[in-house]
Order: sequence, then C-alpha cells, then structure tokens
Amino acid sequence: MALRNIVLEGDDILRKRAKEVTEINDRIYMILDDMLETMRANNGVGLAAPQVGILKRMFIVKVEDQLIELINPEIIETEGIQNEEEGCLSIPGFYGTVERPARIKIKGLNREGHEVAYEGADMLAIALSHEYDHLEGILYTDKAVNIRDSNNDNR
Ligand code: CO
Repeated sequence: MALRNIVLEGDDILRKRAKEVTEINDRIYMILDDMLETMRANNGVGLAAPQVGILKRMFIVKVEDQLIELINPEIIETEGIQNEEEGCLSIPGFYGTVERPARIKIKGLNREGHEVAYEGADMLAIALSHEYDHLEGILYTDKAVNIRDSNNDNR
C-alpha cells in the first residue's frame, strides 16, 4: 500500500464525471488499498477515486467502524433532509453546511465484484452522498451555505 497525494480543488479532475469501472482487477485493488491508507492518514471519513487522481467510479467511506467500499455506486432511494456541517479532504480547512438526505440507500459492487447495498442515516448518509457527488464532479462547496475557513477561526 502507498499513500497517494490528494488532489485539491482547482484541479479539473474533480469536475469531471468519473468513468464506470469495467473490470475489477489487481490495479483496482491497489487503488482501493491506497485510498484507504490515504484516507486514514488524513483522518477522513470518505475518499473518492478522483481525489487521488483516478477518474473511476469508486469511493470508500468509514463511519463508526463501518468501512464501505463501493464500485460503480448507484443511489437507489433517498428520504428526508438534514443540514449538517461538512468538509472535504480536497478543500482543506474549510467547512460548510449542506442539505443532504436524512437517509440514503445505495448499491454497487464490492471488490469481489458482488452487488452490495447499504442503507445509511445521519453521518453515514452524509458521507455516502458527499462521496457519490465526487463521482459526478460535484464538490460540497457547490451546495454549501455558511462556508467558513477554520484556518482563521482559532488562534
Ligand atoms: Co470530498
């Protein structure tokens, strides 16, 4: 496994629609493993492949010890709304309040190529929605209100 550099806002890759994964192979495993290591090293709760420079439809999320890896994810259903503050490893130091679904059902493939589905509420719903948006070239700052720069908050 290896740490990868996180692509920062301003890089075009974060604005492109990521491509379907057509074959799950050793390269995909390696990218997923590197994404996990990179997310952990940066204390993130989620990371999408475009954030490490890979324009493929896959992301990882880790909320409360539940690790989810999804390849070619599709949102099946959303319910309700919640407004919470969130950030993004590609926009370090900033936070903003985003309207997200209160609950989300999502399916996709796991690394074995099996179809899996997850249902999440609260923080997990936020993370799944946020990471899915990355695959569409959407950043949370597109939707956020009250964006603040935490670099200027505390002294
Ligand atoms: Co993000």
